Amino acid sequence: MKKALLPLFFGGLLIVVVWFAIGEMSPAQQRWYSPSQVVQGEAIYSQYCRDCHGKSAGGKVLWRRPNTEGNYPPPPLDGSGHTWHRSFPLLQKIIREGGRSFGGTMPPFEGQLSTEEIDAVIAWFQSLWPIDIYSNWSDREKRVAP
Ligand code: HEC
Repeated sequence: MKKALLPLFFGGLLIVVVWFAIGEMSPAQQRWYSPSQVVQGEAIYSQYCRDCHGKSAGGKVLWRRPNTEGNYPPPPLDGSGHTWHRSFPLLQKIIREGGRSFGGTMPPFEGQLSTEEIDAVIAWFQSLWPIDIYSNWSDREKRVAP
């Protein structure tokens, strides 16, 4: 190969590598919500959810263990628990109706929070999820947006 062609060769190689790296990254980083939903959701979380689910949505320390009445403490919503197993409509339903449909103790927020506000609070806690947890969730969903 002529020396003059070397920069061209390595330049081309770099473009291909960067192209593939971006292709690998972007699906996991595409999230359904906007930054303004996250901001709105954080305020709603502090007002309505923080007392139970914790300051940074880390849940109670022993959240896997039922208390003496057999009820489970508030779990973490920050991606360290099992919240990513729930579909988007189920997350909306849990927040709307609380735990009553499955014998839980979480209070319902129907009437207090609009659908838009419920979506915003989901956006906020999902913004805490690491890339791999979020992409596992969105793969399960088979779609990215609600
Ligand atoms: C009085 C305490 C309390 C408050 C306030 C509360 N939660 Fe909960 N939350 C719970 C408990 C306890 C559970 C576990 C299920 C149950 O017992 O109902 C739960 C479960 C959940 C789940 C299911 C998580 C999973 O991993 O399955 C979500 C999502 C959730 N809460 C979101 C919220 C949001 C958003 C708010 C505020 C709008 C909120 N919670 C306010 C106690 C609370």
